[in-house]
Amino acid sequence: MADRFLVTGALGCIGAWASALLVREGASVVAYDLGDDDHRLRLVATPEEIAEIAFVRGDVTSLEQLERTLAEHEITHIVHLAALQVPFVKANPPLGAQVNVVGTVDVFEAARRRGLATPIAYASTAAVYDGRGHRSPQTLYGVFKVANEGTAGVYWADEGVTSVGIRPYVVFGPGRDQGLTSGPTLAMQAAAQGEPYRIAFGGRTELHYAPDVARGFITAARSQAAGAFAYDFPGTSVHMTEVVAAIEAAAPAARGLVTFDDVPLPFPEELPGERLDAQVTPLDVAVRETIEHFRSADRHA
Ligand SMILES: NC(=O)c1ccc[n+]([C@@H]2O[C@H](COP(=O)([O-])OP(=O)(O)OC[C@H]3O[C@@H](n4cnc5c(N)ncnc54)[C@H](O)[C@@H]3O)[C@@H](O)[C@H]2O)c1
Repeated sequence: MADRFLVTGALGCIGAWASALLVREGASVVAYDLGDDDHRLRLVATPEEIAEIAFVRGDVTSLEQLERTLAEHEITHIVHLAALQVPFVKANPPLGAQVNVVGTVDVFEAARRRGLATPIAYASTAAVYDGRGHRSPQTLYGVFKVANEGTAGVYWADEGVTSVGIRPYVVFGPGRDQGLTSGPTLAMQAAAQGEPYRIAFGGRTELHYAPDVARGFITAARSQAAGAFAYDFPGTSVHMTEVVAAIEAAAPAARGLVTFDDVPLPFPEELPGERLDAQVTPLDVAVRETIEHFRSADRHA
């Protein structure tokens, strides 16, 4: 049987990229998302590609709806991305726990009941670490993602449900427009339009290009992994000055328009864990592609 993917959070940044990449290679995609705003998908996929996607207005906090969707669409692979990001969890911790913790338990339980044979590829985060790289999250969002990794471990040990968790850091690229670390992408968008932008953090971080990350989730869901694995996404640490330089190199007219507050994130400068084996686009190429993407999206708007 051909691969039939369920992508939770498919209308988000990484989910839109994952859905677009899957459809582009001919796989079946069920986009499972609570929202109905497909602006990110329209930014990264053509109308013809979007027409190939089956949309389910779905909530990961409904086990019953997840089970029904897996059965009705004969799902063979799951990429689980639906979550509330740092500011939304901070604004409403009980809802954050409901979506990020209970929602992930629901995805694992639905997969167990269906007897899914492939690994669940799910999103963890660099926020499971503190600023010194210890596994000591400084946000509730990070605490909830630690719970996801623990959930995956017990589902493997007790039930044989296999999974690969991936911890991206600062994801950037077309479609990254919300969350604590969306600043670099918003700066690239502003630079493409010749407008000023101030990024609200600085210091050294790792930047991960959204299509690379999406490809990492797809590959993980198709892997032969048998166990509960969790990996940092591959990349190298860069200072925000290097990010600004890459933006200025790609959009020379924006020289001096992108600035940043040199306040480090409450996460490590460099990820300390074992890395996923995944393709990484060089930063300068990815920044150039992102700015070009925003320019052509403006031309076609
Ligand atoms: N963007 C990053 O830099 C980054 C870094 C590390 C980890 N992650 C993780 O990767 C995943 C995807 O991130 P993103 O940037 O694409 O997020 P995003 O905020 O762009 O998208 C999240 C999507 O989840 C959907 N959603 C929210 N609640 C839902 C529910 N109850 N049921 C179904 N769908 C629901 C939203 O409608 C949205 O479309 C998340 O789990 C996030 O925590 C992201």
